Amino acid sequence: MKNFYLTTAIDYANGSPHLGHAYEKILADVIARTKRLSGTKTKFVTGLDEHGQKVQQGAEAEGIAPLTRCDRIAEEFKEMLQKLGISHDDYIRTTEDRHKRVVCELLQNLYDAGDIYQDDYEGFYSTRAEQFLQEKDKVDGEWPEIFGEVTRIREKNYFFKLSKYQEWLIEHIQNTEGFILPEFRKSQVLEFLKEPLNDLCISRPAERLSWGIPLPFDPEYVTYVWFDALVNYVTAAGYGTDEFEENWPADVHVIGKDILAPPHAVYWPIMLQASNLALPRQILAHGWWTTSGAKMSKSTGETVSPLALADQYGADAFRFFVMREMTVGQDAEFSLERFSSRYKGELGNDLGNLVSRLIHMCHQYFDGIAPEQELQEDLEKNLQTRWNEACSKTLEHFNSFQFQLGLEETVGFVRAINKYADERAPWKLAKSDTAQDQKALATSLATMLEGLRLANELLAPVMPGTHAKICQCLGQEPAEIWSGRLDWGERLARVELGQKMILFPRD
Ligand code: ME8
Ligand code: MG
Repeated sequence: MKNFYLTTAIDYANGSPHLGHAYEKILADVIARTKRLSGTKTKFVTGLDEHGQKVQQGAEAEGIAPLTRCDRIAEEFKEMLQKLGISHDDYIRTTEDRHKRVVCELLQNLYDAGDIYQDDYEGFYSTRAEQFLQEKDKVDGEWPEIFGEVTRIREKNYFFKLSKYQEWLIEHIQNTEGFILPEFRKSQVLEFLKEPLNDLCISRPAERLSWGIPLPFDPEYVTYVWFDALVNYVTAAGYGTDEFEENWPADVHVIGKDILAPPHAVYWPIMLQASNLALPRQILAHGWWTTSGAKMSKSTGETVSPLALADQYGADAFRFFVMREMTVGQDAEFSLERFSSRYKGELGNDLGNLVSRLIHMCHQYFDGIAPEQELQEDLEKNLQTRWNEACSKTLEHFNSFQFQLGLEETVGFVRAINKYADERAPWKLAKSDTAQDQKALATSLATMLEGLRLANELLAPVMPGTHAKICQCLGQEPAEIWSGRLDWGERLARVELGQKMILFPRD
């Protein structure tokens, strides 16, 4: 059976990881974990994009070899992944031999097929953006600041026949439901494709840029960095090996909106089509985290690294925050106030308090053995109905990558458990000796335990560490797959519970 094959953008090895990188990997990780929990075989890959001018220049500035610098940056990124609990199955670096081989093979095939040709090129070149520019890139007759120094150059280069595939691509995008997500980005891509496509210059003379993969048919040139970077997806899928069929085509490429059009929505589908390879099923373009609102630095007097929050509050709280806060596809503003409010409210008050007071009562009144549900009255029936709704809605949202909505449902259900607790008030029932009140006490704690057990299942992809801790409190093994675990049932009756924990401490 084919794997659900999921990738992220591979990060540029020209700087340290930041919130944007962290978010994207968390988003992809939550998708991967959701798939695995749903019983789908999954392959999840992320990695590092190491060639290109900026990487070369960065290394020169430090007086070290480019690969030495990339090795260091790779360690930094991998450390971030580890810190955030990312469960990738492979980490691909574009300087690896397995990748260079695949890039060369694809290039050679396209060259042999006549889709790559050599031509004279005269035009404007931006070193900063590593790309050729056209008059239309000017704003008010000037080159925008983002291009840095722009020079006029004339050189021979190799070109890839994008234009030949333009009509085909437009049709594919129009006719393939869900190819580009969210939906509103699809119209932006189609808008971009209204202009005639120029063929893509895919080479750089080696004398100007040595830090790249040499063209197999002309070693005087190296490959343009996007032609190298995009290919990572098929390399990591095992192109050229038996494994490839198990993975390709990719099910989802998770990327940021800045690299949708043209790289992922135009160059990449055309590169695949021209190479007779199947296209990815979906491209999910997320938005940007912004920190321009000065709140974060003003209130603290210093800039707070979002990653430092993961150190301070734990990876799970950070993962929960970014997934809960950002509507996938839209931009979101990062602020400490927002973080703190989610942490104290939904995590601390709603979830954390439920866990600690429930486990505490179970030890106090039942010696740490989960009681049985002895009554089934409206309060119990209502909570069970509430679960059925919350569960199906959460899963529906998770499956359409609407994690912020899914988590809202899950948190809503946690609140419903707390409301149930207030209504049953086990702490009052415990003071009464009547048989009816004792039954109600057992029932209330059993019902809350079952509710917490279920809510905790849905938290597993987003907060795997917290999920495992709550399982420990409940005397359960963490979930590997959900099958059989999402139905309301008396799973915990007579189970020996663990000790209570403070999951989200206040500082
Ligand atoms: O683009 N908010 O690498 P990169 C959210 N190497 N996402 C952000 C962000 C922000 N503030 N800043 C960056 C590259 N990202 C290429 C990709 S893929 C074959 C090659 C996202 O390090 C960005 O959108 O500049 C991209 O998806 C990823 O981080 C890596 O960005
Ligand atoms: Mg970038």
